[in-house]
Amino acid sequence: MVRETELNARDFIYPLFVRHGSGRTEIRSMPGVAQLSVDEAVHEAESAFSMGIPSVILFGIPAQKDPIGLENFADDGIVQQAIRAIKRNIPEMVVVTDVCLCEYTDHGHCGVLRPSDGYVLNDPNLDILGKVAVSHAECGADIVAPSGMIDGMVAAIRGALDERGFENTPILSYAVKYASAFYGPFRDAAEGAPKFGDRKSHQMDPGNVREALREAALDVDEGADMLMVKPALAYLDVIRVVKDAFPELPLAAYNVSGEYAMVKAAAANGWIDEAKVTLETLTGMKRAGADLIITYHAVEAAKWLK
Ligand code: PBG
Repeated sequence: MVRETELNARDFIYPLFVRHGSGRTEIRSMPGVAQLSVDEAVHEAESAFSMGIPSVILFGIPAQKDPIGLENFADDGIVQQAIRAIKRNIPEMVVVTDVCLCEYTDHGHCGVLRPSDGYVLNDPNLDILGKVAVSHAECGADIVAPSGMIDGMVAAIRGALDERGFENTPILSYAVKYASAFYGPFRDAAEGAPKFGDRKSHQMDPGNVREALREAALDVDEGADMLMVKPALAYLDVIRVVKDAFPELPLAAYNVSGEYAMVKAAAANGWIDEAKVTLETLTGMKRAGADLIITYHAVEAAKWLK
């Protein structure tokens, strides 16, 4: 009766990894998560939807990688196929797409590189990100979510979408994204690990929180409709300050791959109660200020909540 924070399946966004071909390829470091063919992704989205989860976020593993990631904005790209298939089968499902270069580039970085030293360039990516977002919107994506921490990405995507008549497609910005070791298993899943170096030139230092407010303010100015803090568990204080600074914007927290893998590993050893620990963790993220939680545990958590 006096509980202040209520967790609900409708708070969840369920991540799906789609790839070409047929069937499922389990991801070793993320038990229960698989790379899915388009039809498997539709099944997975249907079962999530039937559990009361309103939304999925899509990540693509392209057939071929190259220096700029051409499949990222190809009409027959894997994410483009998955958006159409999910929207055809479950029109009510809110389809969010991750907009970034790292899964598509052969070097695994979130942007094109300066040839002389391999530094991730900023501005040359803005056009590409706009093209990717428009291509997703054309296939029926409901929300685009740029994740690369490229300066100006929200404004560039907003401009590109508006120019093509997608004024009503909202942008969920990965506004506050740390250079985190918790992304390790995701990089197996999405096959998007950088071939050399790291992402510290554009992702944030884990010690910083004032910078989080600056990053969020820039994205709000550029037209972000929703904000995200990522990862979640080690950054609950950041979720709180961002929510307090921008109370009018929906805030998402990304309960990332490493957070999921830790719980799965400890549970598999019988060291913790997976259901209780997961629901407690997700409740903590909501209590910290998240309105939405992107989580690989979405379907299981929805079951446990029932
Ligand atoms: C980049 C992207 C990453 C994640 C989501 N989008 C990886 C990265 O920045 O290296 C990580 C999500 C997770 O760990 O679950 N497209």
